[in-house]
Amino acid sequence: MTTQDYGKTDKGEAISLYTLRNRNGVEIAITNYGARVVTLKTPDARGRLADIALGFDSLKGYEGPNPYFGAIVGRYGNRIAKGKFSLDGKEYTLARNNGENSLHGGLVGFDRVIWSGKTEESNGVQKAILTYTSKDGEEGYPGTLKVSVTYSLSNNDDIQIDYLATTDKATVLNITNHTYFNLAGQGNGDILSQVMQINADHFTPVDSGLIPTGELKDVTGTPFDFRKPTVIGSRINDKDEQLVLGKGYDHNYVLNRSGNGLVMAAKAVDPPSGRVLEVWTTEPGVQFYTGNFLDGSAVGKNANNYAQRTGFCLETQHYPDSPNHPEFPTTVLKPGEEYKTTTVWKMRFVEPAK
Ligand code: BGC
Repeated sequence: MTTQDYGKTDKGEAISLYTLRNRNGVEIAITNYGARVVTLKTPDARGRLADIALGFDSLKGYEGPNPYFGAIVGRYGNRIAKGKFSLDGKEYTLARNNGENSLHGGLVGFDRVIWSGKTEESNGVQKAILTYTSKDGEEGYPGTLKVSVTYSLSNNDDIQIDYLATTDKATVLNITNHTYFNLAGQGNGDILSQVMQINADHFTPVDSGLIPTGELKDVTGTPFDFRKPTVIGSRINDKDEQLVLGKGYDHNYVLNRSGNGLVMAAKAVDPPSGRVLEVWTTEPGVQFYTGNFLDGSAVGKNANNYAQRTGFCLETQHYPDSPNHPEFPTTVLKPGEEYKTTTVWKMRFVEPAK
């Protein structure tokens, strides 16, 4: 476990990098700039390590324009329609940064603020703990919000992310992590031949602004059915209205669950390396995003240009635009309540395909 300098922001603020390493060689590095995952090295069955997270070689890249590589997004992951919602009879107007909508917290979301950070180790589990206080009215959201995000790495190759928050006024909240994974290793081509399984009978179809229509659509007989492991690229270019709107997969899945505990949301496999990622969560949904808007303009690690669909995200979350959909599980947090969610990335491997 190490803490290193990670350079200074354009404004001269000193930034740190926290690196956790377990005895199998799994390594995760997190910066307190946006609480972002900067490195995620995992072994395959032959013990070969690859960095499976898209990102940059230095802080400068993260400060520049980029689609939330590795970031914690908040206060509200994904979109709020027209940047407006009402709570207790009062209408709130948010920063709009995605056409007429508010996306991933607004203009300066949790991905672009400086968190306080520290590391801790107990019983073989290494932790990077990041905290941030978001002021009442920040990006238009009500309430002073105290947030903590803890990344824990254990020797069984689980990376657990615990999210906690409290508020002093009623507000809405939906925090997630926006890492782009490529199980072949970042920069190693697209993710279209990787295999995905998603534990969901339904997804939330969207309109042309990628706002949920409110319908929970049955995946049966559609290219959205990932209940059995399916090659990501096998149907991605089908003439399906929802795939056309998303330019690929960019949809929230309604996870099959009973109760509020951890369930497996998704499992991805890269057959040539055998690398496996399982995502478990206490959240009701997961956004499966296939990097459709990546366009090669970001020069990433080792000067790799990240072209379309060279990474996928599995953003565990409440459904997009829930504050305007009373029929969706609530994202309201009130004073005296504790926001508490957990997501686990299980880094595994199987024998590579021949
Ligand atoms: C959204 C996409 C968006 C991407 C990067 C995803 O969570 O669903 O529509 O392009 O984040 O901003």
